[in-house]
Parts: sequence; structure tokens; C-alpha cells
Amino acid sequence: MTAQRVRIALFRRLSGLYRLQAETRKRFRDRRDLDRLSLPPGVSDDESFRKIKEMIPELNSYKASTVRHLREKAAAAGCRDLEEYRLFLLEHAEELEKLKSNLTRNGTDFFRGNDWDYFNRACLTGFGGRKDIRVWCAGCSTGEEVFSLLLLLIDYVPLGEIRVLATDYSDEMLEKCRQAMYSAWNLNCIPGKHLKYVRLCRISGPLSVKKLLKPKFTFAPEMKDVITTRNLNLLTDPYPEGFDIILCRNVLKFFSLETIGRLQEKLVHSLAEGGFLFLSTDGNSKNVELIRDPEALGVEQMDGRCIYRKKAAGTDSRPDREEAGPEEA
Ligand SMILES: C[S@@+](CC[C@H](N)C(=O)[O-])C[C@H]1O[C@@H](n2cnc3c(N)ncnc32)[C@H](O)[C@@H]1O
Repeated sequence: MTAQRVRIALFRRLSGLYRLQAETRKRFRDRRDLDRLSLPPGVSDDESFRKIKEMIPELNSYKASTVRHLREKAAAAGCRDLEEYRLFLLEHAEELEKLKSNLTRNGTDFFRGNDWDYFNRACLTGFGGRKDIRVWCAGCSTGEEVFSLLLLLIDYVPLGEIRVLATDYSDEMLEKCRQAMYSAWNLNCIPGKHLKYVRLCRISGPLSVKKLLKPKFTFAPEMKDVITTRNLNLLTDPYPEGFDIILCRNVLKFFSLETIGRLQEKLVHSLAEGGFLFLSTDGNSKNVELIRDPEALGVEQMDGRCIYRKKAAGTDSRPDREEAGPEEA
């Protein structure tokens, strides 16, 4: 094992303990905040939710359970119920603006979900020897997904031939994606063979025990250089086109079914012929991210997974199917 791997393994242990402590503290805090959210008689969250939707029309495209997320936000802002939160938003324009790009959760992870092995074997291997590969990661959050893809793709395509567009509607997430600074705990899901691309960040600012015990890691600069970040709201902004790979994972699930269908159509339109659309499985059997009628959208579903390949106009896009390896365990 190289010194770098030993260092990462050590820090993983330490940051695991820190994370457990922080999560327990947060659980207690959230519970306490939610407990304070008792509705006075006669006040309905539904009515306040309707009025908040008038202030943020995009909310109409999200699924109804988004209201739970809003209640958490209300609690965090110290409001007792959604009505109080609505009034708070009316008085604090900057909070309203912040909320508009924070309507969902934004948790992410390296190699999140089940299908990465399959995606690698069945799709990415086919990119060997190809040039100018264009990738779009839509709803990239803090960037873990972008680097997961790059770590796999560079086995087949030199970095100089890859361009990645990473978009999100939250400037805060995009800034973190640009900085690409992760804790040792975050790196847990990265297979050891890819750790050679991981670098220890220099400590900036005044030295502290916390900084020493919780170092940040990043990726090789030449990897970061191929990524462009851009603010793009999937509901309201025009979509860029001509991508060989589009990742839009754990994003569509936040929207209403009608909206999911509309966005899937737009995502497929953004693919180049033969391009792959990788949505998310997330272990849910009633997966809302599955495309209902792939044939109608001109894509082929790959082995029943949330991965689709755009057919070339007037042809069947199944020639590379034999490249898929054996099923994952
Ligand atoms: C749960 S995270 C998923 C991150 C990553 N794709 C993954 O699978 O781990 C959802 C991301 O979608 C973004 N998002 C939510 N609504 C969006 C919208 N309308 N347009 C663009 N991004 C959106 C959020 O800011 C968040 O970063």
C-alpha cells in the first residue's frame, strides 16, 4: 500500500467518528426543531403551501411531498409553521431567493447507486479510442458524481478528449463542485485503484487541530480542468445539446410525474445519436425515474436498468449489446 493510501485510510477512520458525532447532533437538532412545529388550530399547512407556491411557481413542478422539505426549512428558520415561514419569506427577500434554488435535498456520494459497474462494462468500454467525448452531469450537487464518471471514463479515453459540463440550479452547490474538496469519509466509496488520482489539499488560513485532523482531499488538477460548471435550472432554462453521456441521477425523483416525463423528453433531445442517458435506480422498485415509453422517445432501455441509449434516426441501436459483461451479483 502506498503512503497516500495509508494516510487516506487513517483519516477515513477519524472522519468516520467525526461524522457519526455530527449526524447524531443534527438528528437531535432536527427532532427538536420539528417538535416545535405544532400547528395552531385552524391553520392548515396546505393553504400556506398553496400561497408559497404562488411566490415560487416552480414548486408546482415538484412532487407534493416537497412540503416536508419546506417544513424542515421553516423549522431551521425558527418558524412554527408554514404560515409563519411564508410571512418570514415575504419579509426576507434574500431567503426567498435562496429557497428558490434549494427546493430539494442535495445529498450525493461517489459511485452512488447500483448501476455504475454495469454502466462501465456495457457503455463506457465502447468509448475506447473515441475522440471529443461530451458529458453533461445535470443536477451535479457537490461534484462526486462528476468525478465518479471521470474516474471510470479515463480508463478508455485520454482526459484531453473529454469535456464535462456540470450543472445545478444552486450556486452554492456549484461552488463546492468547483472547489472539489472532500473529506476522507467522502472518499470511502471510491475503489482503491482510483485513489491514485486523489490529492491531499494544502491547509489554507491559520492552522488548527480540526484542520489537521480533518484534512480535505481533491483530485488531480488535470481532471478538474476538463469540468465546466454552469447554473442551469432544469425546469426553466434551455438545455444544451449533442452529448455522448448525460447523467441526471436522483434529481427527477423530486418532480411530479408529469414534469418527469417532460424533462426526460428534453434530456433525450440533448443526447447525440448513440448517446447514453444514465438516470437513477436508488434501489426503489417503483422507480419514478424510469422512462415510461422508451420506444416513443427513441431510446433503448439497457437490460431493464435506468440506462438508455438514443437510437440513431431510423436504425436499431443494439449493436454494442454484446459488450455488456455478465450481470452484477
Ligand atoms: C439529491 S441531489 C443528486 C446529486 C447527484 N446527481 C447524485 O445522484 O448524487 C439533487 C440535485 O438536484 C439539484 N436540483 C434540484 N432541482 C433542480 C432544478 N430544477 N434544476 C437543476 N438542479 C436541480 C439540487 O440542487 C441537487 O444538487
